[in-house]
Amino acid sequence: MAQWTSAVGAPALARQLRSQQQNPAGPGSRRPPAYRALADGIRLLVLEGRVPVAARLPAERELAMALAVSRTTVAAAYEALRNEGFLESRRGAGSWTAVPAGNPLPARGLEPLPPESLGSMIDLGCAALPAPEPWLTRGIKGALEELPPYAHTHGDYPAGLPALRQMLADRYTRRGIPTMPEQIMVTTGAMGAIDAICHLFAGRGERIAVESPSYANILQLMREAGARLVPVAMAEGLRGWDLPRWRQVLRDAAPRLAYVVADFHNPTGALADEDQRRQLVDAARSAGTVLVVDETMSELRLDDGTQMPRPVCAFDPGGATVLTVGSASKAFWAGMRIGWVRAAPDVIRSLVAARAYADLGTPVLEQLGVDWLMRTRGWDEAVALRREQARRNRDEMVAALRRELPDWEFEIPHGGLTLWVRAGGLSGSRLAEVGERVGVRVPSGPRFGVDGAFEGYVRLPFTVGGPVAEEAASRLAAAARLVRTGVTTGTEAPRTFVA
Ligand SMILES: Cc1ncc(COP(=O)(O)O)c(C=O)c1O
Repeated sequence: MAQWTSAVGAPALARQLRSQQQNPAGPGSRRPPAYRALADGIRLLVLEGRVPVAARLPAERELAMALAVSRTTVAAAYEALRNEGFLESRRGAGSWTAVPAGNPLPARGLEPLPPESLGSMIDLGCAALPAPEPWLTRGIKGALEELPPYAHTHGDYPAGLPALRQMLADRYTRRGIPTMPEQIMVTTGAMGAIDAICHLFAGRGERIAVESPSYANILQLMREAGARLVPVAMAEGLRGWDLPRWRQVLRDAAPRLAYVVADFHNPTGALADEDQRRQLVDAARSAGTVLVVDETMSELRLDDGTQMPRPVCAFDPGGATVLTVGSASKAFWAGMRIGWVRAAPDVIRSLVAARAYADLGTPVLEQLGVDWLMRTRGWDEAVALRREQARRNRDEMVAALRRELPDWEFEIPHGGLTLWVRAGGLSGSRLAEVGERVGVRVPSGPRFGVDGAFEGYVRLPFTVGGPVAEEAASRLAAAARLVRTGVTTGTEAPRTFVA
């Protein structure tokens, strides 16, 4: 039986290959042989989700004609893709696109540097803000006052403290989705939630559909779990989710899980509208795919005029198809390490069992802290501080970038914490490398893609503002000049910077 579920014709593939941006390899790089350029082009189309996985590619002769190249070139490109795991072929059935299992390229996650080791470096690696004081201190004091009754217990709450489960359930109910505490599990950050979900649903070799680009650390977590990531390209700009494409991927690749960040997507900042949400749930339900919705950024709406659509789980309130993941990290502070999952009670029971071997439970004191903050006005006041700070940072960062790097392109998101920037035709990896030498750390685009996609991008979080944002932009401009001219000696010293 053939393994392909859709087909891409020679004229359409040739059109996509021609319209592809040239891979911005940077000056000095030699042009690759024709077969390699063709293989890279097809690989990128698959990696960015523009050609779906399990799509039959045209016969060698047809593609050669459409591209006006020799059949040998196409044959060599197909052979290279087969060797790299991006193509499978069977005599008589043709060749179809695939994604390699495991972790073929060293696409690391984002490792924040310890603040004390930063020196004069401006760290734009991590999209997280400092604690919204005085609320952290007040929350922890409130938690300490409530600790004594728990001190007499074993302290082992694998599903979370009952009080916090109830609190989180009530918050969903107030957002219009009736929820019982049995539908909530408290986790160690959103990462802990998604780790448990992968453990339960996505064994080694299982497919997971992901937005392309998506959040680097979750992609890495999934790779390390042995999943095969099936990228689905985001539409240009902030339009976000291309539903015909999602439907096709979910139907054809039949992934076990799909992972989306519908609220102020990391890294693009896109916000899914209500119709996109409804359709995503519908497509997942029809395909038998579990839809994991990461709401980590959902409280970071920065522009008052932006209407928040209903949560994705409003279209599956029972929680059999939609597993919602939440976190205190962006709304409050990443140092709390508190996250949660909302799902059907039986899914929650299985997740509790699945997380047991990872961390058994989440620290009691921090859970009490979040419960205290949510019970008092602390949470809402802290979120308001967050929004104000992020809005100011965003506007200052945007102004600094426009001044220093007018050819860098990005959309200004209405929420979240990140700008997804096309870096004027420069290689994001080179910028990241040279940036470190001139005193600014930025993650390159490929960290947010599946295997090498988005080489021409960097992600800039608006975690700094004012003079620090200006200095960051001027260091980025210095890095861009060095990358453009190819003159990087490796000895550039970061300028002293006092924030
Ligand atoms: C979309 C998204 N999900 C998850 C996380 C990690 O969340 P946590 O700190 O709760 O583990 C982040 C942090 O940047 C994020 O942006």
